[in-house]
Amino acid sequence: MLVQIPELLNAEQVAQLRAALDGADWDDGRITAGPQAARVKHNRQLLETHPLAKQLGEIILRQLAQNSLFTAAALPLKVFPPLFNRYEGGGHFGGHIDTAVRLTREAPYRVRTDISATLFLAAPEEYDGGELVVDDTYGTHSVKLPAGHLILYPASSLHEVRPVTRGARIAAFFWVQSMVRDDGQRALLYDLDRSIQNLNKTVADHPSVTQLTGVYHNLLRRWADL
Ligand code: NI
Repeated sequence: MLVQIPELLNAEQVAQLRAALDGADWDDGRITAGPQAARVKHNRQLLETHPLAKQLGEIILRQLAQNSLFTAAALPLKVFPPLFNRYEGGGHFGGHIDTAVRLTREAPYRVRTDISATLFLAAPEEYDGGELVVDDTYGTHSVKLPAGHLILYPASSLHEVRPVTRGARIAAFFWVQSMVRDDGQRALLYDLDRSIQNLNKTVADHPSVTQLTGVYHNLLRRWADL
């Protein structure tokens, strides 16, 4: 399931992050890649231990905590602290599947990467190329969103970032361990949740709304790992 979260950050927050990132001291992106990914990864990034990554990551985590669409779609249990990357001058990241379990560096804890997330921090007209291309069970999807928008996609999917041939693509990326590990089960819960929200707008008093809400919670109780 691919889910877009529009305007996770507003224009002012994007400008704040960009002002900090545009003057940052970036590291080679291969530092955090496993051996297979390191061979196909050509970008730069800020490590999670970089003070700027921590400071800007906090802003993103705060926005995630307040975003009901993110909560409904991801059913988050743990979020890996956001990292930041920069692709330019032909930079790209060839096809790979993300590492299944990641250990954070500070206050160490493990995150099973159920969901991968990319938060776009450059406007599409600032650069050419740089599409995130995701292969999932429903085919191939090419994603390039306005600055401040977030895309969630299954971390189990083969994906790549196409070469950036003009300008710079700047983004934050992170992973989510969901309460519901299985992407198909999570997609069903998300569809059911959205349907109930729509019914609540029109026929909130109908007894079937109560029943469906109960079905949602009983499925979540059955499928959630905490
Ligand atoms: Ni990846």
